[in-house]
Amino acid sequence: MATIISVALQKGGTGKSTTAQAIASILGFRNKKVLLIDMDSQGNVTYASGTDTPQRSMVNVLEGNCTASEALNRCKYYDLLAADSYLANVEIAEDIEPTLLKNAISPVIGSYDFIIIDTPPALGNLSFNSLVASNYVLIPIEARPFALQGLGALYDTISSIKKKLNPGLEIAGILMVKFNSRTILNRDIREMIGDFAKRTGIPVFNTVIREGIAVAEAQTVRTPLIDYAPKSNPNIDYEAFVNELVEKTGV
Ligand SMILES: Nc1ncnc2c1ncn2[C@@H]1O[C@H](COP(=O)(O)OP(=O)(O)OP(=O)(O)O)[C@@H](O)[C@H]1O
Ligand SMILES: [Mg+2]
Repeated sequence: MATIISVALQKGGTGKSTTAQAIASILGFRNKKVLLIDMDSQGNVTYASGTDTPQRSMVNVLEGNCTASEALNRCKYYDLLAADSYLANVEIAEDIEPTLLKNAISPVIGSYDFIIIDTPPALGNLSFNSLVASNYVLIPIEARPFALQGLGALYDTISSIKKKLNPGLEIAGILMVKFNSRTILNRDIREMIGDFAKRTGIPVFNTVIREGIAVAEAQTVRTPLIDYAPKSNPNIDYEAFVNELVEKTGV
């Protein structure tokens, strides 16, 4: 049975898609069976995975026009359920069941060790469905001003989902990304996040992901970071982070 991890925060550009793809690639590289689900109509992990206009995508799965297994795309390190712009229809629809994704993927859960879900920068139907389907939520936070913006609302949403729809949902922790240890600002923000974590009891991962141009370059040439720049700072950090994550999720 797969461990299902949503990468979520409704704030934009905090490294969700980069993190989701990095985790999926590294676990796949380590011979784990991995499914990466793109739940964002921007389709960033779909693009970065090298998958163009797939015949069947998440919107077809969620609207019941095909099964999850029929929509799988095989990538080098993982299987991908791709997204396209039509997924935005599901985000704004008013009659979406919160268990739609959970039910849609239940037939394939047994085929994977890990399912990683990339979510959009909004707390709408798509993120909600992702959290309801998950065992863990991972929260990437940029080492920038206003970093903690949105965490309160996400925390409230997670708490309400835990109460009713998914009691097993756990916060895996906050992951600091795009870190530059040379700037005082970054060190200050790291301290601020540490204080916040102490107050709220939300765990913070020891590993931080340093910034590096290799991330954007790899995404542009649509190659996993682990292949494009295995010795780059962000890749080294993501590999260390995955060790910590796997330890925490116990798989
Ligand atoms: N460690 C890093 N070093 C340098 N740039 C990074 C790093 N991580 C992410 N980026 C860049 O930051 C930008 C935002 O990253 P990403 O798309 O992963 O965020 P996101 O949270 O998924 O965004 P959205 O909210 O729009 O879905 C991208 O241009 C990406 O290349
Ligand atoms: Mg994204």
